[in-house]
Amino acid sequence: MLESALIKLDFPLFSSHPDLVYLDSAATSQKPQVVLNALLDFYTHSNANVHRGIYELSEVASGLYEQARARVARFLGATSAQEIVFTSGTTAALNLVAYSYGSQVLHEGDEILVADFEHHSSLLPWQRVAAQTGAVLRMVTSDDNGQIALDVWKNSITAATKVVVVAHASNVLGTITDIRSLADLVHRVGAVLVVDGAQAAPHLAVDVHTLDCDFYAMSAHKMLGPMGVGALYTKSALLEKMVPYQVGGGMIEEVTATTATFATGPAKFEAGTPPVAEAIAWVAALDYLEAVGLEAIRQHEVALSEFLLAELQTIKGLRILGPKQASQRTGLVSVAVEGVHAHDLADYLSREQIAVRAGFHCAMPLHHNQHCGATLRASYYLYNDKQDLVRFIDQLHKAINYYG
Ligand SMILES: Cc1ncc(COP(=O)(O)O)c(C=O)c1O
Repeated sequence: MLESALIKLDFPLFSSHPDLVYLDSAATSQKPQVVLNALLDFYTHSNANVHRGIYELSEVASGLYEQARARVARFLGATSAQEIVFTSGTTAALNLVAYSYGSQVLHEGDEILVADFEHHSSLLPWQRVAAQTGAVLRMVTSDDNGQIALDVWKNSITAATKVVVVAHASNVLGTITDIRSLADLVHRVGAVLVVDGAQAAPHLAVDVHTLDCDFYAMSAHKMLGPMGVGALYTKSALLEKMVPYQVGGGMIEEVTATTATFATGPAKFEAGTPPVAEAIAWVAALDYLEAVGLEAIRQHEVALSEFLLAELQTIKGLRILGPKQASQRTGLVSVAVEGVHAHDLADYLSREQIAVRAGFHCAMPLHHNQHCGATLRASYYLYNDKQDLVRFIDQLHKAINYYG
């Protein structure tokens, strides 16, 4: 396992909250000092807008911003930086696919398939695009184990399927989807695969080439980086087909009073001032993650999940959502406790300095399909250790006794 106690020292928030047990990294991760330094460094030494000025400082800022794009491309295994569009996060990236790609290619009767464990950010844009284009949105339902078998996907994909949308890892179930196998099925009918990587990119080594997905969305703030920046990876051939759904400064070639032509490549989708400092500081986060090692982080989280799942299974009246095998999930577990509302549990835990999330986690259809109300989610990362989970379990027992 990782030396989490040492890793914690790199995260200043834990020094200002020494008693905190932070189990809400799926909502946002904490940030190491190197990321905070990178933000301060940019504003102290290199602050200027990008791709606008011809003075030296602007060229420095533009250079750093483009280097960040190349770094994100390398992290994801993309062929070129030109396949990476910076966005404000996963939500913006998924909206970009829906409006700039989906609304261009979909027609009446075409099918959009979405997994039932999609985050609302991955579902709602397609609801709109379906309404606008006349395409049909169909939901593929996960089983009691929180998984969708490949055969179920296979039987759901038809000749009418044009877009398939899936989370690489579910933010409620932790379920990891076999993207490569699904991509093969999707491509067989000439459809595209849109992957929401918000909960996977922070925890798994992602290589978009191996996965062969067409779009991959992620947020920096869930992977040690700043809030306000994320990225959409798109295969270059598809990027060229897409039409910007936001227009404005910084993305044009020529503008007259009544017409405009647009820049090529990712710039076309980055109207307005982008999150420059955040993109540059994200590099420090990616460097940090790779220095620790994605594989080591994965092993660490699997070990924590094994421990937590075993402990939770001993609690009477507690239901674990998603797969029971640690190896089949990322570092989070959501539970429902019979007769006790998840908000009450989270409130009790908060008073004991334990930060967990309660509610529907922006996945209402999933909770409905899994026949449960609000759930309590504990999510952990490289800076959490077994001790954090022991405190969580101890206090969870007390909370259940108190309310039960
Ligand atoms: C699976 C998943 N998709 C999308 C999002 C939205 O990410 P963001 O709020 O960074 O845009 C989240 C956030 O929790 C998520 O967990």
